[in-house]
Amino acid sequence: MDAIALRRGEHTPIRIQTPKPTPKSGEALVRTLRVGVDGTDIEVLAGEHGGFPPGEDHLVLGHEAVGIVANPNDTDLEEGTVVVPTIRRPHPDGRTAPQHLDQLDMAPMDTVVERGIAGAHGFMAEYFTSEEKYLVPIPDDLADVGFLVEPITITEKAVEHAVASRSAFDWRPESALVLGNGPLGLLTTAMFATGERFSDVYCLGRRDRPDLTIDMVESLGATYIDSRETPVSEISAAHRPMDLVYEATGYARHAFDGLDAVAPAGVLALLGVPTDWPFEIDGGRLHREAVLGNKAVVGSVNADRNHFRAAVRTLDRLPAWVIDDLVTGVSPHTDAEPAFVTDDDASIKTAVEFHRV
Ligand code: NAP
Ligand code: BGC
Ligand code: ZN
Repeated sequence: MDAIALRRGEHTPIRIQTPKPTPKSGEALVRTLRVGVDGTDIEVLAGEHGGFPPGEDHLVLGHEAVGIVANPNDTDLEEGTVVVPTIRRPHPDGRTAPQHLDQLDMAPMDTVVERGIAGAHGFMAEYFTSEEKYLVPIPDDLADVGFLVEPITITEKAVEHAVASRSAFDWRPESALVLGNGPLGLLTTAMFATGERFSDVYCLGRRDRPDLTIDMVESLGATYIDSRETPVSEISAAHRPMDLVYEATGYARHAFDGLDAVAPAGVLALLGVPTDWPFEIDGGRLHREAVLGNKAVVGSVNADRNHFRAAVRTLDRLPAWVIDDLVTGVSPHTDAEPAFVTDDDASIKTAVEFHRV
């Protein structure tokens, strides 16, 4: 069968032939429909994040998948059920601590593998197998857009943790600032702007108008902020202090400048995965700000099954026009390359299609 993979020493995805997998006991065989592409895939291609399965010369890419159960094997799943796989699996050498086995998203990175990212093959293949407990059934009518479930889980988890960090008092957030207008930032802006939690939503980018992402931010009723005109540290004064700042740029300075944008008693949620970059900050001032402002900082990665179930509900309530505007391209697996071109002005969210429903 065909798969899209990265070979060791290379930086571009290629189509390879690999044997169709046979499900082991407890696993189902899934016919892949679509697999989304995000900034993490680009970081994996660049060799900045993740890694190859031990002893293998390639990594099958892709972690944002949706497929249809083709062979339930000995699981309780039914043939034809539409499913979305979770990403993390216990490390094959048994190093995952028992207390993390039920919540792999909270396990240390080096004690798990991530399919399509770090140490395990992903879902960009005509078929994949997975244990039943890592497959989340979704409604049939979401099959075409089910590849958006996994990225939505990232925000479901980050917001849950942000809210939990404020659970010791009556936190009533109104404003949210999303840093970054890539696929994760825009999806999150859409979730916040169309959801009930926030009444005042902002999204930061660094693009000139006319631009698809700015149009989308404004169609959502959110405010676009250009970081070249208003640096993050000045947003509080130029607009308002933000109850939640959600960082999705991977721009490491935002982990610190973001605290300036947070309102007293607010939260800074960090999602980006930057490479090493030493730089100077006024640590004393930020330390003081965090303490005297009762500010919380939450780092968040990956997501648990509960977040997948919540994400399915969120995807179901997102307006159709939001999804239409967000998904700018679906490429057939026989010509997948355009799905990985995400740095042009015409792309927001892309996916590779392996089968149609
Ligand atoms: P992406 O495609 O790299 O998007 C990042 C966006 O941030 C781009 O649109 C970029 O603008 C913008 N940006 C970068 N620096 C900026 C600055 N200084 N001022 C204003 N805008 C800036 O990545 P993504 O898929 O949306 O994901 C965002 C980050 O989250 C990545 O680092 C990714 O690895 C990480 N991530 C983490 C998780 C998790 O579980 N924690 C999950 C998914 C993704 P331009 O396009 O104009 O350059
Ligand atoms: C994926 C997560 C993963 C993270 C770190 C993200 O793009 O969506 O599932 O844990 O990257 O590798
Ligand atoms: Zn991702």
